Amino acid sequence: MWRKGFLEHEVAPLMDKKTIILLVVAFAAGAAAGYVASIPTVSALQSKVNDLQSKLNPNYVQKIKEKGVLVMGTSADWPPFEYVDSKGNIVGIDVEIAKKIAQELGVKLEIKDMKFAALIEALKNGQVDIVLADMTPTAERGKVVDFSIPYYFSKGNAIVTLKEKADQIKSVDDLVGKKIGVQLGTIQEEWAKNALGGKAQIISYDRVYPEMVMALKRGDIDVMVLGDTIASALTKKMPELVIVFYAGGSRIGAAVALPQGAWDLKYVVNKVIEQLLESGEMSKIFENETLKWLESGG
Ligand code: ARG
Repeated sequence: MWRKGFLEHEVAPLMDKKTIILLVVAFAAGAAAGYVASIPTVSALQSKVNDLQSKLNPNYVQKIKEKGVLVMGTSADWPPFEYVDSKGNIVGIDVEIAKKIAQELGVKLEIKDMKFAALIEALKNGQVDIVLADMTPTAERGKVVDFSIPYYFSKGNAIVTLKEKADQIKSVDDLVGKKIGVQLGTIQEEWAKNALGGKAQIISYDRVYPEMVMALKRGDIDVMVLGDTIASALTKKMPELVIVFYAGGSRIGAAVALPQGAWDLKYVVNKVIEQLLESGEMSKIFENETLKWLESGG
């Protein structure tokens, strides 16, 4: 135990003052070093800081510029937003918008076609930089990806059937007991399950055009639940099809999906969309691409 006079009377006779000071300094230094090293939060804190820094200053734009290419994910089965033309190229409204984004970034555009239900995952794991697929921004999707401002507004879901069946199908109630075709992973599938789950047979397809359309023509399904734009594009081109009514869906039609936290990329995408909307170029893209689809042999 420490007693007053302990150093002078009992320790001092054994050691000179210099040795005592040295010992005290050495002990203090050792204790300090040990203390710092024992703080587990120092390295954890550093990685938190790094994390925060990359969130505040994301480098998605820089990386795309370094690659020299913007990779767009889409599901090319949904004319006139995206479809495969007679030459085998993926074309449509979303491709034209993506070209403008690539142009703004000063890079080439590459398109990866996959099933709609795989797009969010592809964005999450970095397989694609952006998704344009007439994708509706929903709260559920917003938990795992970010969305640009909307570039298209919708009348909601359109119920499409064969003309010969049209007079039997006038309302949601008429769909009870019917076979309903929807695309896997879409808001149309969600609507059908909510409105008619257990009351109708809901069949989910990976691809709408041509697969689900062929299924309707063959009679495998009675109706398709689609977005309003593809519904009117299909019915204009195929006189045997008709929109019988609209039900559910969302007014906000589509936005560009981006990786979560890609603020820098989102800024560029929003700027391009804003310019296209304000200049009237967006409406021109919609008109031209709809016409191209109607005139195409596909
Ligand atoms: N707007 C709907 C949704 O986001 C359907 C989009 C389907 N798009 C496509 N390219 N197949 O769920």
